[in-house]
Amino acid sequence: MDTGIAGRVAVVTGAANGIGEAICHRLAGEGVRVVLLDRDAQRLENVATALGASAAAHHALDLTDRAEVRRVFGAIRVDVGPVEILINNVGQAPRERAQEFSEADPELWDFILDVSLKTTLTCSQQVVASMRERRWGKVINISSEAPFTGGVRSPEYTAAKAGVIGFTRALARQLAPFSVNVNSVAPGPTKTAAMASFSESQLERISASVAMGRLGRPDEIADAVCFLASERASFITGQTLLVNGGGVFH
Ligand SMILES: NC(=O)c1ccc[n+]([C@@H]2O[C@H](COP(=O)([O-])OP(=O)(O)OC[C@H]3O[C@@H](n4cnc5c(N)ncnc54)[C@H](O)[C@@H]3O)[C@@H](O)[C@H]2O)c1
Repeated sequence: MDTGIAGRVAVVTGAANGIGEAICHRLAGEGVRVVLLDRDAQRLENVATALGASAAAHHALDLTDRAEVRRVFGAIRVDVGPVEILINNVGQAPRERAQEFSEADPELWDFILDVSLKTTLTCSQQVVASMRERRWGKVINISSEAPFTGGVRSPEYTAAKAGVIGFTRALARQLAPFSVNVNSVAPGPTKTAAMASFSESQLERISASVAMGRLGRPDEIADAVCFLASERASFITGQTLLVNGGGVFH
């Protein structure tokens, strides 16, 4: 299937590990020129090296630092060209910082909302004007199945990801008249560092909650992202695609 996106410029956030890394490889396989953003400088270097000529640029930065984000997207515009595909992948649950909600320090909420919701707004803001002008663009926001299941383990993460889904719908409506597609992919439990803090028995319980009886692989999430970024999905906008092995149906 020709995805029709060879030669396009894509930015992937949280590109150095897990799902973001898999998305970079998948897009590179389609001939996309990929710009990688992550704060993990060492891993970022390794992923960029593995991508070879497909890595158009890579920048190590904290994506919650708005001034840095503006500076880096400015550099990308000059050095690589207008961003045509944006994958807002960066985000995380509290993991080892998890606290019972009634006793949680609100600073934890700020941390989670900053990294799992506001980065999506900040990065999107850098690219929408040029996408609108050029009348072509794809924004894919990585949400989660947590807003569909109730995501009881981390209400702040669930709230952030529900925000990502709402933002996806609103931005999709704003940009639809300009032929810019905005969609979301909502992964179920996927085998990445996000799962590293769980014990074997917890992982078994999580796998058992999936209809297919296993965790997802990052490349399976990347396939869905690549489809939505492609010309094959030109009439799909504002949607959230659950990629979860049948954990919850929507
Ligand atoms: N793995 C899962 O089970 C799962 C399930 C649902 C949704 N998701 C979502 O998928 C996305 C990717 O998750 P993952 O499991 O691949 O995570 P991961 O921890 O494997 O990778 C996240 C990447 O983001 C980078 N990062 C984190 N904070 C950053 C910051 N402030 N600035 C710059 N870079 C930063 C990390 O260095 C890392 O490379 C996240 O939005 C996550 O919430 C994951």
